[in-house]
Amino acid sequence: MRLLVLSRNASLYSTARLIRAARARGHEVDVLDPVRLQFAALPKSPGVLVLGKPLVHYDAVLPRIGASLTAFGATAVAALEEAGHAVLNGSASILLARDKVRSLQRMAKDRVGVPRTIALRSLGGLKDALALVGGCPVVVKLQNGTQGVGTMLADSEKSLVSLCETLSALGQQVILQEFVKAARGSDIRAFVVGGRVVAAMRRTAPPGEFRSNIHRGGSGESVKLSRRFTATALRAARALDLEVAGVDILDADGTPLVIEVNCSPGLEGIEQVTQVDIASAVIVHAEAYASKRRRRTKG
Ligand SMILES: Nc1ncnc2c1ncn2[C@@H]1O[C@H](COP(=O)(O)OP(=O)(O)O)[C@@H](O)[C@H]1O
Ligand SMILES: [Mg+2]
Repeated sequence: MRLLVLSRNASLYSTARLIRAARARGHEVDVLDPVRLQFAALPKSPGVLVLGKPLVHYDAVLPRIGASLTAFGATAVAALEEAGHAVLNGSASILLARDKVRSLQRMAKDRVGVPRTIALRSLGGLKDALALVGGCPVVVKLQNGTQGVGTMLADSEKSLVSLCETLSALGQQVILQEFVKAARGSDIRAFVVGGRVVAAMRRTAPPGEFRSNIHRGGSGESVKLSRRFTATALRAARALDLEVAGVDILDADGTPLVIEVNCSPGLEGIEQVTQVDIASAVIVHAEAYASKRRRRTKG
């Protein structure tokens, strides 16, 4: 089949792995920087152009959209969907996953365990909100934080107030979240592809740090997930309608609590830690997804 990886750069680890895995399975693969796309409303136009030329048809499109390009990336993905390409993941799911609070709300509605969370833009009612998420210490997050930057811990009501005043003055929405102490600075990344957990690792923060992100010095080890954690990871991916998802789960003494779901999860750390060929799993699923789509379109 003909495959497109939507990515800023073909040499990025995850992009390169997907290309290699697709070629190994006999597919034709192109890589396209989404910013080269143009969206057209012209008579008889295909709707999507690449630098002024019509885009060819792809059987499947794999978007790798970084956090800094979310809005434009989702627009590009929506245009490709509109033009009839099978895209995994779709634009609505990308936007939902990238919204920390809305995605938690959707998961909670679908009976996925999540930490108590409240987002606020005005400081009126801060004390009530704090009480609702369980008091201090409390986790404070920024709506567009990533790689651990933008996630903080407030030990006292006084430091919380000054932190929130600063963020509010900077025009930021503040997210208050129950601090899950029982997680002890570690979390689980479950990599879900097409309704299956293909790999999982436990990430542990360095001493004195509660954020387990690899970018914050966290270390990873391969884990076998219990039935309960597996079910939670799958339900979270399904709640957000993601075909490919990195589900981050805190282990609160055996109870899984999902903190976020990544819609363009990186392959580097988890492939190295688990030795699982995740790229091939993604390609195999893209094949099945594309042929299901073809059958549905024909029918
Ligand atoms: N409510 C929480 N309780 C305990 N630890 C948390 C909580 N939320 C986040 N963490 C820790 O902080 C890390 C970063 O938080 P996260 O919400 O994933 O932000 P980012 O999008 O920057 O990765 C997580 O991987 C986890 O180790
Ligand atoms: Mg995270």
